[in-house]
Amino acid sequence: MDPRKEIERLSAEIRRHDYLYYVLAQPEITDRAYDKLFQQLQELEAAHPELVSPDSPTQRVAGQPLEGFRTVIHPFPLLSLQNTYNEEEIRDFHRRVIEGLEGRESQYVCELKFDGVAVLLEYNDGLFVSGATRGDGTRGDDITANLRTIPSLPLRLRENILGRLYVRGEVIIEKQAFAAYNEEREAAGEKPFANPRNCVAGSLKLLNPMLVAQRPLKLFCYACVLTEQSIEETTQSGNLEMLSQLGFPASPHWKKCDSMDDVLNYWRHWETRRDTLPFEVDGVTVKVNRVQDQQILGVTARAPRWAMAFKFSPRQSQTRLNWISLQIGRTGAVTPVANLEPVELGGVTIRRATLHNEEEIARLDVREGDMVLLERGGDVIPKIVAVVTELRSAKSQPFRMPTACPVCNTRLIKDEGEAISRCPNEDCPEQVKKQIEHFSGRSAMDIDGMGSETVELLYEEGLLNNIGNIFDLAYEQIEPLERFAEKSAQNLLKGIEKAKSRPLERLIFGLGIRFVGEGTARLLALRYGSLADLSAATFEELQAVPEIGPRIARSIVEWFASPRNQSIIKKLREAGVRTESEHRGAAGEKFKELTFVLTGALQKFTREQAEEMIIAQGGRVTSSVSKKTSYVLVGANPGSKYEKAVKLGIPILSEAEFIEQLHSEDR
Ligand code: IVH
Repeated sequence: MDPRKEIERLSAEIRRHDYLYYVLAQPEITDRAYDKLFQQLQELEAAHPELVSPDSPTQRVAGQPLEGFRTVIHPFPLLSLQNTYNEEEIRDFHRRVIEGLEGRESQYVCELKFDGVAVLLEYNDGLFVSGATRGDGTRGDDITANLRTIPSLPLRLRENILGRLYVRGEVIIEKQAFAAYNEEREAAGEKPFANPRNCVAGSLKLLNPMLVAQRPLKLFCYACVLTEQSIEETTQSGNLEMLSQLGFPASPHWKKCDSMDDVLNYWRHWETRRDTLPFEVDGVTVKVNRVQDQQILGVTARAPRWAMAFKFSPRQSQTRLNWISLQIGRTGAVTPVANLEPVELGGVTIRRATLHNEEEIARLDVREGDMVLLERGGDVIPKIVAVVTELRSAKSQPFRMPTACPVCNTRLIKDEGEAISRCPNEDCPEQVKKQIEHFSGRSAMDIDGMGSETVELLYEEGLLNNIGNIFDLAYEQIEPLERFAEKSAQNLLKGIEKAKSRPLERLIFGLGIRFVGEGTARLLALRYGSLADLSAATFEELQAVPEIGPRIARSIVEWFASPRNQSIIKKLREAGVRTESEHRGAAGEKFKELTFVLTGALQKFTREQAEEMIIAQGGRVTSSVSKKTSYVLVGANPGSKYEKAVKLGIPILSEAEFIEQLHSEDR
């Protein structure tokens, strides 16, 4: 056996499997069989070190850790693309292209714009010779040793190409691999990376290629310059096809587009489907297809005139956190808020973001003056996901949560097991104002004209110091105020008058009792039928109401026990605010401690009405039949719940029997 020939055979075989596995994702052999081939090659090379060629598959990880990276001057400027976020600008680009081509329409190639780290690769006579980061476009770092470790980067091309070939590409890490890698880091007590791009950048900067080899890096190639190529026939689409043929992982999902509408459709298609891709993209690129046309159009100082990046709305931006302030909510909850250097995120300017509580601040170790990463996920609310610690000033200090309320200076308290600090002062101006705003809000008493600015003004003027005073406001007090005139004063009073007849559940919600949301308020209104009865309810009684646990029950009892709140209720009643339910009289105890399940179509009322009646009578409604079910109320065409009830021997009620029970004398 000629060792040279055998080494060549094994290398070629491994190279082919690398290509099948890493570029095409279509492996032909098992990992085990592959490892065996690799081992054979390693052994042969160890026995014949003089036969090891630099492009051998065993040489992806080789050499000693570096001291630092050599700076290289790129053979040509690596331009970046001009960004655009809207259709108008992309149409302008199209107009400029036509103008530049003296009226001729051009074909475009659209590609995904990968969110990774840009690199330039150099091949000589078909062999990978060096690679560098883009740097500032003129000079970058020589990261050849690190790039070699990326398995999808061909060390030798599949076709023998003479002369020099330069390839531009983006190193990325797939989302799943990134998450798994971050988990590993966290398990090892290391700080996770904020996003895949940071992870790639951090990996390529490592001085030890052995460590780089452990990072799951991938490559996509999107441009090439072949020095021997004749320009007339060259196109971007042809180049992408050539890159694939040569064994490069070429930019996937690219498309030729004959019109601007095609381009816009491509952009829309991927804007809505970006989450289906296994890697992060931040937009699409639009390039004039013919290289000759590209040359006619030329370049500006920084970007080509023949291409454009059409970005998606960003989901992450970086900005400075100037200071952390405290926000006091209507229940006294203190929320730390990050005040940011204004930054665009998904088309809106973000100035503030919640930091939730002290624990979250500690978890992120976020400090005043830090550069932070902001992210907007599926929801619209932006959140701070990480601190860019590399950019932190040496003088920065960990954030210390103030111990007193920044508004009324009362000492803050923190309940056992709670993450949130609270201001315990019921008369804290900030709390009171927020309570009034909440009481007047849409889902509560819906007082027209009582927005936050009006509340602020009335409070500062001393006309309003709790929700009980709202109904005392008089025309003579309001009209002379700044921002008010005859009409607006009358309108506000009209709004206040109208609020007096809102349903009981809205009033209960509007009181702003901790943990009592709209749903609980409805339940309480149904169950108690009046504010007086609710106010008299004991902790045990409240807890017996379905869906109300000890936490809510305690909070309700505490709220009504406060003399301040009792005086508010008195004022509301005196002012003529409705404190009884429309269905007053409906509430009772007929179904106390009974559990109902409803099935089939009811005739006399809707399912919701039936549920309300059951709750109003102290019963509860659950969705599945069990031994604990007291009755199953059965309408027309009942489902499997009926069968199950029969099987378990649960009493069945027809609609008529149910109505009869409702109207019967109290048990
Ligand atoms: S073309 C002159 N195509 O986006 C050609 N760039 O601002 C310039 N990028 O630095 C690049 N995917 O890092 C091109 N399909 C793609 C790309 C792409 C990502 C990056 C690249 C470049 C920046 C452009």
